Amino acid sequence: MSLRSNAPLAGFLVLTLLIPLSACASAGGDPEPTTPPTSTEAAAREATASGASDGVYSAAQAEQGEQVYRSMCGECHFTREFRGSDFFFNYEGTSVGGFLELIAETMPEDDPGSLAMDQYLAVTAYILQLNEYPAGAGPLTAEVASGMTFERVGTPRLDGAHP
Ligand code: HEC
Repeated sequence: MSLRSNAPLAGFLVLTLLIPLSACASAGGDPEPTTPPTSTEAAAREATASGASDGVYSAAQAEQGEQVYRSMCGECHFTREFRGSDFFFNYEGTSVGGFLELIAETMPEDDPGSLAMDQYLAVTAYILQLNEYPAGAGPLTAEVASGMTFERVGTPRLDGAHP
């Protein structure tokens, strides 16, 4: 008696449990968004192929930038502020030219604007290098910087937002 009257209810429960599960299974069927790039090299190639970061600074410029950074910025800043998640938390998608202007106008904090524009450009190139942008043939210019935004190149992407 009780078995009989409960049977439709049991069927209903099974269905309501199964429907969301199968919906989930098909929605989660594509593993791509959670799979990090297999290597930083592959990720860099991908970004380079999209033209987002195709050798916009030279290795020599980044090296000069590292020296400027060490003598003019490092006393007050930790390098990790300008690299990886800490950096992208604040600057992902923002203008590289805007960053250049910001540091040229406000830094070093105890003597803003005291460096040559070449030195601010070099520090910006160094920060691109810290974030695994590949070096190219020529140095970063203010014009090129103003046409690009900071995007994750070598770090695994957290979502599929950036092609
Ligand atoms: C004397 C210490 C000092 C030196 C040297 C210094 N900074 Fe700063 N910097 C600060 C302080 C303090 C802040 C935070 C205050 C603020 O945001 O205005 C800051 C903030 C910044 C910011 C974030 C600004 C914002 O509003 O988002 C950047 C980027 C930056 N510094 C880059 C540099 C670079 C590049 C150099 C070297 C050329 C440099 N700083 C040298 C003290 C310094």
